[in-house]
Parts: sequence; C-alpha cells; structure tokens
Amino acid sequence: MSRAVRYDEFGGIDVLRVDEVERPVPGDGQVLVRVKAAGINPSEAAIRTGAVSNIFPSTFPSGQGSDLAGIIEEVGAGVSGFAPGDEVIGFNQHRAAQAELALVEAGDLTRKPEKLSWEVAGSLYVVGVTAWGAVHAVQPAEGETVVISGAAGGVGSLAVQLARRTGATVIGLASEGNHQWLKSHGVIPVAYGDGVADRIRAAAPGGVHAFVDTHGGGYVELALALGVPADRIDTIADYAAAAKYGVKTDGGAEAGPGAGILAELAGLIADGQLELPIAGAYPLAQVREAYTELERRHTHGKIVLRP
Ligand SMILES: NC(=O)c1ccc[n+]([C@@H]2O[C@H](COP(=O)([O-])OP(=O)(O)OC[C@H]3O[C@@H](n4cnc5c(N)ncnc54)[C@H](OP(=O)(O)O)[C@@H]3O)[C@@H](O)[C@H]2O)c1
Repeated sequence: MSRAVRYDEFGGIDVLRVDEVERPVPGDGQVLVRVKAAGINPSEAAIRTGAVSNIFPSTFPSGQGSDLAGIIEEVGAGVSGFAPGDEVIGFNQHRAAQAELALVEAGDLTRKPEKLSWEVAGSLYVVGVTAWGAVHAVQPAEGETVVISGAAGGVGSLAVQLARRTGATVIGLASEGNHQWLKSHGVIPVAYGDGVADRIRAAAPGGVHAFVDTHGGGYVELALALGVPADRIDTIADYAAAAKYGVKTDGGAEAGPGAGILAELAGLIADGQLELPIAGAYPLAQVREAYTELERRHTHGKIVLRP
C-alpha cells in the first residue's frame, strides 16, 4: 500500500485528504518512485476548485501534483538508463505526485545531482520549465531592461535569475520583505501597488524592453503602458489579457518535451549558479496546511510536501 493525496469532488482545501491506496505497478516505460519531496503549485488549487475544468477536466477520485523527486523503487519493462536506488527528479503527468509512491514515465525523469536538497529537487519542475519558457519568450539581452512581476514567487524567483544570466538589467516587482533577496541576486527591486509605473520608469531611465508577468491582474496593461511591444510581453497568469492584446503566454510547454531543461536547471542549482528558495516543507498529512499557505499568494520560492 501507499499513502496518496486524493479528493472526490471539486471544492476548497477541505476536500483534500490522504488515503491508503494500492501500490502502483510500473507499466512499459514507467518507473515507480518513492517520493521524497513533491512541490505544490497554484495551478493544482485551480484544478481542484473546478475553475479550469474546461481546459483541465478531472475524474474522481483525483490525485494531485506533478513535481516530484525521490528514489527509484522499481522499473517497468523497456526502461533503460534507470535502476532501483537511483535518485531522480521529475514530473508526473497523471496528477499523482503527492504520494509516497508515484509512477513516472522514464522520459520525464533526470538524475538528481547529489548537491541538490530533496526539497529543491522536488519543487523544481513546474516553476523551472515555466520560468525558462517565459524568459525565453521575451528574449532579454545585454543592454536591455526586463521587468518581472511576482519576482520572488516560485516562477518569479527563477525567472529573475534566468533573465539576469542573459546580461539584461532586471527589475523585480515584489513586496518590501523580498527586496533584499532580489538585490542579493543582482535584481533591482521595485514595490508593486499604487504608483508602480512611475517607480519602474524611475528605475529604468532607458525604458523597459521586455516584461514577464507571473502574477496577472493588470501587469499586461502595465507593460503596454510602459511601451513594451506585445511580442516582448509574456504572461503565464492572465490569459484574458493575452487574448485581448496579443501578448505571449509561453510557459512550461514551450520548454520542450521530456526532462532536458529540468536537468539543465538542476545542474545550475547544484553548481551554485541558480537558487530556488524553499519557503516551507510539510508532511503529506498536512497537505491542507500547505495549500492554505500557498493560497495566501505571498510565498517566497516554493512550498513542498515531504511524504
Ligand atoms: N502557464 C504555465 O505554464 C504556468 C506554470 C506555473 C505557474 N503558472 C501561474 O503563474 C502564477 C505564479 O505561479 P507561482 O508558482 O510563481 O506562484 P506563487 O509562488 O504563489 O507566487 C507568489 C508570489 O506572488 C507575489 N504577489 C502577490 N501579490 C502580488 C501582486 N499584487 N503583484 C505582484 N506580485 C504579487 C508574491 O510577492 P510578495 O510576497 O513579494 O508579495 C509572491 O512572491 C500562478 O497564477 C500560476 O498558476 C503558470
């Protein structure tokens, strides 16, 4: 048997529970992973409430989560390159990562560098490939200035660092408490809220060339008002504005199939060239507490479950 997060109907955090379930059996090309850490993401909350059921339909009982890292327990037929005992990072395509045991397609796994903590490894996939896709979409370059909203969140904290690595000047929108962390990563912090456009103009005397919105709620309009061309604005959170103004919505899907980008990002973190802050870790049994904290929307980096 294994314990796994489950819910039986769309709803609030209180529909989440941890059940005893049958031990999963790896099929062709699959690997069974004993999960050491599974990051949580806002999209899982949106799926759970039913708010996005037209795009991401659910069947019940539903499991939850895609990010994971752990130790291989068993490999299915046709799997090469992985063996029981290997420490791996990956993602589960069946919303079943938040469990003691999870099945993963072998192509969706990469080896965990020894230096990566379980917490970081298990939270890296969704935010990592999304930050990569979003920054790649707006192509910041040396001599340019890019603004990133939600700059200290899960996606934002990686996006600001990936944008900095291009040589561009990066302005990160965040609340005061995150300004020191942003400065320590070479990012110019700017507080969001009333007057944000003026503060950005003051911080970017040469103008703003690109904008990555990881928060939604008016940042696409702000980017346009700052004079950023639509093809250099990417939002991963405001699809209505994207449709209205023709800006980009590149995220994880644009990072390409499989675990290639994941391996690249894991390597950068292991080498100390990238940091994924961990805001908190919760045992599986406290999945409701973990999402309660996430849904306050002020996480710095990642919240992770430790089954
Ligand atoms: N399309 C995709 O592929 C994709 C993938 C992943 C995520 N997403 C979406 O992207 C969004 C961000 O995801 P995430 O995991 O990074 O979320 P997150 O970690 O929960 O983001 C929290 C961050 O939001 C910031 N924030 C709160 N209110 C803000 C405001 N008014 N203006 C600017 N920033 C504000 C907070 O900053 P302070 O603490 O400084 O206040 C905090 O750092 C979500 O909507 C998610 O669904 C899309």
